[in-house]
Amino acid sequence: MSEEKLQNLLHVSTVINPPESFVKNANVKSYEEEYKKFLDNPEVFWAEVAEELFWYRKWDKVLEWELPYAKWFVNAQTNITVNALDRHVKNGKKNKVAFFWEDEFGNEKVVTYGSLYTLVNKLANALKRAGIKKGDRVVIYMPLVIEQVAAMLACARIGAVHSVVYAGFSVPALRHRIEDAEAKMVITADVTIRRGRAIPLKQIVDEAIRDLETVEKVVVLRRLKPRVDLIGEKEIDFYKFIENEPSYCEPEVMDSEDPLFMLYTSGSTGKPKGVIHTTGGYMVGTYYSMKTVFDLKDDDIFWCTADPGWITGHSYIVYGPLVAGATQVIAEGAPNYPDFGRWWKLIEKYGVTIFYTAPTAIRMFMRAGEEWPNKYDLSSLRLLGSVGEPINPEAWLWYYKIIGKEKCPIVDTWWQTETGAVMITTIDGLPMKPGKAGKPVPGVIADVVDKEGNPVEADKGGFLVVKYPWPSMMRRIHKNPEKYESYWKTIPNCYFAGDVATKDADGYIMILGRADDVINVSGHRIGTMEVESALVSHPAVAEAAVIGKPDPVKGEAIKAFIILKSGHEPSDKLIEDLKYHVRMELGALAVPSEIEFVDKLPKTRSGKIMRRVLKAKELGMDPGDLSTLED
Ligand code: WTA
Repeated sequence: MSEEKLQNLLHVSTVINPPESFVKNANVKSYEEEYKKFLDNPEVFWAEVAEELFWYRKWDKVLEWELPYAKWFVNAQTNITVNALDRHVKNGKKNKVAFFWEDEFGNEKVVTYGSLYTLVNKLANALKRAGIKKGDRVVIYMPLVIEQVAAMLACARIGAVHSVVYAGFSVPALRHRIEDAEAKMVITADVTIRRGRAIPLKQIVDEAIRDLETVEKVVVLRRLKPRVDLIGEKEIDFYKFIENEPSYCEPEVMDSEDPLFMLYTSGSTGKPKGVIHTTGGYMVGTYYSMKTVFDLKDDDIFWCTADPGWITGHSYIVYGPLVAGATQVIAEGAPNYPDFGRWWKLIEKYGVTIFYTAPTAIRMFMRAGEEWPNKYDLSSLRLLGSVGEPINPEAWLWYYKIIGKEKCPIVDTWWQTETGAVMITTIDGLPMKPGKAGKPVPGVIADVVDKEGNPVEADKGGFLVVKYPWPSMMRRIHKNPEKYESYWKTIPNCYFAGDVATKDADGYIMILGRADDVINVSGHRIGTMEVESALVSHPAVAEAAVIGKPDPVKGEAIKAFIILKSGHEPSDKLIEDLKYHVRMELGALAVPSEIEFVDKLPKTRSGKIMRRVLKAKELGMDPGDLSTLED
């Protein structure tokens, strides 16, 4: 297709049809038929999916619900690791590759289902020996290595609830998560390696668990030579820990509704909240999306570039792909180190067929220039995915043309930590509209509505909601039932996602951004209040207000407005100090890219900061209703 023709497609009709050859071989032949099958009988639909998996005991009922609570596969019993490992090992896939892992230096590891099975079983036995029992919480603070995946699965094997903390979070952020979960154990590594540098992790754990009595043991994967010292009786080397363990661990029989993991995510208020997912529904939901959204076949090579520290890694590196028996590529480190060819080289080397990444990465590569991907053979690719934030049509088109060579459909997948699995996209044969995520996947009833829950007119902005329970939905917020219930109470009888969206006449949903005080920086959710409270904990800061500002690569960047305490003067040095302070409090991803010192902040009469006014002023837009402004 010529450049001109593509541009026309993009701006005039904005519809691109997937290649016929793709549609012909797709797992789901017709979106409409599949969706109708679901609508005709949701419970039969989901039961059919669940039947493909192993259960110790089948369900009495597929779904039991009374909003805001729902139970899926009631009274069924299973263990997700039996589906992710034992099932494949027993069905002739013992030697199938589960993971090709690489670091930035090109060191590689090939891990088969058989060897992953053994590692997970040994670790599971070691966890048991260390006194970890079903329901206990284990925090995993590790880089993207096989042992990280194994640690998650080992917890799941024995019914312990893992809470993975992204290795970019700093001491207080990690401490909050360990404390809130009352974790008994932390599994970590000496370092994570990024841009050729070793970044210490264990030191952060040491500080984070100081005086935290719940933590009985710290298991440390030691990668560097000479090895880092272990301190005291709490700490043990990862491989020493599993050394003498038997290579089979009887899986814990889990009720479908037993918790599988918790994962913290930012909201509009205060501290991040622990979203809890359970076993049966999450397993069925993520498995179904592997087959439909990602059209996974037995010989595919799947690469999701996320980190298991985020939900995308949980669902599309660990649980979804392994339950579906996929072969995957994972790569520790930065996408553009040692150079901008790294990812494309890996696609060529491993023959990746399905590639799933974030718009922020696409935009970064777009800037670096197409000469990088053009150096490599990307012809193995057959499907591309995007997640985490809206993808702008320009980036979409670049991805489609330069990476997919106009022969790979793009699935722009909308979903959330809370939804567990992909909710909206263009599955299989659906025509694509660059910039619009698409339609609810079969199994999901989503809509765009006003505050009262009435559907809005086509192309008019409204709130994105889900109107019927789905298997991989979160079940609770740790120790915070009000917060959980608020998701279902904001708009009557709907799950309120917190996003603003439009729906066009064809039913395509376009996500515009968050409706709440959450900023999406490079696809990561950051609460304005979190950054503000980090800032005001600095001795020079009296008050702080934080907004998200459009950024050409990150999607949004953080801008902070600061009122200084008397006796402190604005300076470049202070700006650097404040940035460093946020890095230490929260982590690099929450550092404001801009800081402005002000004398006053717009507030309501009740003293709440009106971020929307700051934002409008910053962007030169109409601030809207100012009647509540204090002066
Ligand atoms: C945003 C990540 C537009 C959205 C899986 C959502 C998206 C939040 C998309 C969830 C997309 C995610 N298009 N926006 N395809 N995917 N978002 O919990 O604002 O880290 O509410 O889950 O990211 O972020 P979370």
